[in-house]
Amino acid sequence: MRVLREEERALLRACMEARQKSYSPYSHFQVGAALLTKGGKIYVGCNIENAAYTPTNCAERTAFFSAVSAGEREFAAIAVCGSPEGEVVQYASPCGVCRQVMMEFCDPQEFRIILVKSEEEYEIYTLGELLPEGFGPGNLA
Ligand code: THU
Repeated sequence: MRVLREEERALLRACMEARQKSYSPYSHFQVGAALLTKGGKIYVGCNIENAAYTPTNCAERTAFFSAVSAGEREFAAIAVCGSPEGEVVQYASPCGVCRQVMMEFCDPQEFRIILVKSEEEYEIYTLGELLPEGFGPGNLA
């Protein structure tokens, strides 16, 4: 198993706190994300659902869009905590759309995705592991 880096430690609590902000009256599935920039800043996000369903935004994309709209472009890692309402009982892995958004800004070999159940229970992957042979900006060059 990969080792959590010192600068990633704060992401665990931040994503669990962000999960408390989840607006998920339809699925009752609460997700929080905490995104670490290469400069050491953290941007958080939660899933935001909608009565029309399709406008729903995942926690990971909320965090990315918040960071990018604040002027950030370079990212080191994201922590994600997702589970049905209440206590966290499972790991939630980013959906395909969110993986594609990560691919737009992140190096698949370097960017780390940390799935979080608690401050002691987490799994660390790279974007390349979760989105092998992904299509990104480099393909258009
Ligand atoms: N969701 C996320 O926020 N992130 C994921 O990676 C998976 C799914 C949200 C979308 C929706 O609000 C709820 O979880 C159930 O799919």
